[in-house]
Amino acid sequence: HRHLTGIAGLEPHQILFLLDEAEQWVEANRDRARVDKRLAGLTQINAFFENSTRTLLSFEIAGKRLGADVVNMHAAQSSVKKGETLIDTAVTLNAMRADVIVIRHSSSGAVQLIADKVDCPVLNAGDGWHEHPTQALLDALTIRRRRGSIAGQRVVICGDILHSRVARSNMLSLTALAAEVRVVAPSTLMPAAIERMGVTPFTSFDKALDGADVVMMLRLQNERMNGAYIPSTREYHELYGLTPERLERARPDALVMHPGPMNRGIEITSSVADHPERSAITEQVEMGVAVRMACLDVLTRRERGIEGWA
Ligand code: CP
Repeated sequence: HRHLTGIAGLEPHQILFLLDEAEQWVEANRDRARVDKRLAGLTQINAFFENSTRTLLSFEIAGKRLGADVVNMHAAQSSVKKGETLIDTAVTLNAMRADVIVIRHSSSGAVQLIADKVDCPVLNAGDGWHEHPTQALLDALTIRRRRGSIAGQRVVICGDILHSRVARSNMLSLTALAAEVRVVAPSTLMPAAIERMGVTPFTSFDKALDGADVVMMLRLQNERMNGAYIPSTREYHELYGLTPERLERARPDALVMHPGPMNRGIEITSSVADHPERSAITEQVEMGVAVRMACLDVLTRRERGIEGWA
């Protein structure tokens, strides 16, 4: 694998390899003296055609901690605004001899299109409804560290499953690692034939929560609705909001997760999001830096003349 465009196509042992690689960076980040500058001399371009806080900053921090020269291209300030095409933008980045390119784009497949045009590894930082692979890896790492394993865990993913690249990448990685995955959404926000993903669909959040080990909440992606019927904010909170009372239906030690950004009071109540023992939301952000360090390191190994990954 030269690029990381998605979890699809990765074997379970490759997912586990990236998680194992990330473990060393969790510890090293807590004790900064232990981070070596193995990417020194490499140029990393983060090309973000869509807004981001966590993914952009953690890819930037990850590259800098490993010694790369990191430059960010924000589409809003770029020549994309003057009508430059995605392919012309890719060719331009390539001509600058980037050693690794990280891309976020609102169109599904845009990252693969760029990967096909450039000479260096490309990492998908989220493309449309398609995939957000580093999010799924950081979620898997968080679950493994907090629950001891991923296999056999009952993971409930609740929200806008239809439009969510986070849900899609997580369904792929968690089923590959033998978790039991339940997905919950209003019927208009549930993809057709979702069972083919190896998950069990529910329209009742209360039923899905029975015996849950992990509850992963997603945001309603209003920017992607395209006319799909969605309940009012109040109705959505009533039916699909994670409240302390509803969390009682899950296991007493169930973990609460959210990729962010959160809409407090809609899909999750603040007292749950901020729960000192149950919530893993800030830990997810911490794991995000470690996972992105691992992905940048592993995917640039060939450029650095060392063996890549299986
Ligand atoms: N989870 C996530 O992708 O957050 P950002 O959109 O802030 O990067």
